[in-house]
Amino acid sequence: MATLGPYYLGPDTAHPAHGIYYGDCVRGMAKIPDGAVDIVLTSPPYNVGLNYTGFDDNASDGEFKAFNRRWLTEAYRVMRDTGRAYVVVGDKMLWWFKDLAEQIGWTYVQLLTWCKPNMAGGAAISGDWDHLTEQILLFRKGKRTPMLNGEGVNTHNWFVETAPQSNFNGHQRKRHPAQWPLGLCLKLLARTPGSVVLDPFAGSGQGLLAAKLLGRQYLGFELSLSVAIEARDYLRNTQPPLPMAIPEQLSLEAIA
Ligand SMILES: C[S@@+](CC[C@H](N)C(=O)[O-])C[C@H]1O[C@@H](n2cnc3c(N)ncnc32)[C@H](O)[C@@H]1O
Repeated sequence: MATLGPYYLGPDTAHPAHGIYYGDCVRGMAKIPDGAVDIVLTSPPYNVGLNYTGFDDNASDGEFKAFNRRWLTEAYRVMRDTGRAYVVVGDKMLWWFKDLAEQIGWTYVQLLTWCKPNMAGGAAISGDWDHLTEQILLFRKGKRTPMLNGEGVNTHNWFVETAPQSNFNGHQRKRHPAQWPLGLCLKLLARTPGSVVLDPFAGSGQGLLAAKLLGRQYLGFELSLSVAIEARDYLRNTQPPLPMAIPEQLSLEAIA
């Protein structure tokens, strides 16, 4: 069924033209005009056998790389020339993902790190070291444009943000196996200029919610129907103002 998509899951009251679509992101992005998106904020599956609903996270190496090439190529086409992409990847993907993106035309900018303080000291370490970080690759399409800066804005290339857990409440309650903290998404987007945010792998919808709360337009795809519906409802039911303190977003004119 998912191969027939994308299916628009209904308007969001605050942004009738934007929202989340159920279906494969490569097919979905094919319907977006060239240069319509300012920011990609996303995390593709890592292909590590995670227990997703309606999605097999165990592809062969070749299939997985070919799939990443397809979605990164579409994301590049729909990106405005001034656009930036944040892609959260697993550490084993990191080493080939950057090269793949550069082959497509993306310019590599920087490696950012999300540190998860609450994951320490939990389950017994199964490898050599515990995995308490995630890597965020930052790419841009064309010429560099200034970032947004404000008083108290986070400019470090690392972010200490508690990972969602099932025993937490509110935005930090874990509803999806690979859920970002909302605070991480808010910090990334608050510094990044551009009005249209795309997440091809929307999952719980945290990245899209951050876009909405910051007054940006948002567009997402999700392959699992139940996950997409839950994200749609989460997005609909959460309205600004922001649920947490976030540095003021200044316009480019204000910092020029
Ligand atoms: C790593 S998770 C993203 C989690 C998300 N960042 C969050 O905070 O909840 C990847 C998501 O992509 C979805 N997915 C996998 N393949 C997809 C595809 N081809 N098109 C759209 N979504 C896909 C999975 O169902 C999963 O929900």
